[in-house]
Amino acid sequence: MTMIRPAPLDVERIRAEFPILSETVHGKPLVFLDSAASSMKPTAVIDAMADTMRKQYANVHRGLHWMSERTTDAYESTRDAVARLMNAPSRDEIVFAKNSTEAINLLAHSYGSLMQPGQAVLITEMEHHANIVPWQMLRDRAGIELRIARITDAGELDWADYESKLADGRVALVAMTHMSNVLGTYTPAARIAAAAHAAGAKVMFDGSQAIVHRRVDVQALDADFYVFTGHKLYGPTGIGVLWGRMALLDAMPPFMGGGDMIGSVSFEKTTWARVPHKFEAGTPPIVEAIGLKRAIEWVEAVGYDAIAAHEAALTEHALARLADVKGLRVIGQAQDRGGVVSFTLDGAHAHDVATLLDRNGVAVRAGNHCAEPLMRRLGVDSTARASFGVYTTLGEIDVLADTLERVREFFA
Ligand code: ALA
Repeated sequence: MTMIRPAPLDVERIRAEFPILSETVHGKPLVFLDSAASSMKPTAVIDAMADTMRKQYANVHRGLHWMSERTTDAYESTRDAVARLMNAPSRDEIVFAKNSTEAINLLAHSYGSLMQPGQAVLITEMEHHANIVPWQMLRDRAGIELRIARITDAGELDWADYESKLADGRVALVAMTHMSNVLGTYTPAARIAAAAHAAGAKVMFDGSQAIVHRRVDVQALDADFYVFTGHKLYGPTGIGVLWGRMALLDAMPPFMGGGDMIGSVSFEKTTWARVPHKFEAGTPPIVEAIGLKRAIEWVEAVGYDAIAAHEAALTEHALARLADVKGLRVIGQAQDRGGVVSFTLDGAHAHDVATLLDRNGVAVRAGNHCAEPLMRRLGVDSTARASFGVYTTLGEIDVLADTLERVREFFA
């Protein structure tokens, strides 16, 4: 059988589309290895947002005038782009939120309010705080049990533990990362969903990291809910997405009240707008949605096959180069992983490592990465983390590894 390989990315051409990448930091070329925190933005996105504010802007869903109608069309067309991106069955299932965190809070409040005391939400040890705290708050206000599936020392879901925590049929919702922001681990989402459904549970994936690196098909995964955020997907901050099956969204009460989410209002009684508007109170992130649409088009034009292949090559190179740095320990050894590499360096605090890297123009994140329980599970208080984007080069990873050699000598 002939393997069809995606055409390699022309990284230099892509980099030329990101003006910020030619900036210098402390007199050194910027080596930006913090894309998992937030990615840089291509000119196409910057221009789409600026052009909206310069040339075609008004509030949406409200005006009968030309500017409002055109802006409403532009804003609403983002739902079509998101539905295409995720292969959602309907554009009406796309709910806009501020980010993944707000999308998960929406779910915890709204879907959570339909759960009964005695039911449980099942998360894992490798969740971001955004997929822990909203469920803890639900536990504390509604008597919902919060269960935690363990991970293995390699940083993968402990399948036997996951199945055992589903076994009594009391889990109403599995809420799990699709790719860990610390370990890079991809979770086997389709298998996770099948096991959840067999146990009578629904399943939500936090795709904040995953959707940046690989094509997501919510129908192929058989997910019930999927959330992601725009600012990691080469789009703007202030816009995220909750996708859910229409029957589930339809049965859920609103999250916030206000304009735009209503059918009619009187002092006695208010009725709700249809999904998705029922969940979108107030003036929405108009410019941000238009930016997100442009980001999605940009990602689609580059192509997920090419993105995934490029990032797999970067990750392989990073793991090989970092393995040669004495005293450096990579945290997380998952078989299926994306472009995120966390590490510790003997004798050095992660913050000091990040600060010294920064002096050389290399930007990495250091700390607990909004995953304190995972740090505890791993027996570390913090890590440094290099994360890659479509514009990252093998040469930048070499700069990271070479600089880490010098940092190590500093602490030796
Ligand atoms: N969740 C983002 C990160 O992992 C902010 O850095």
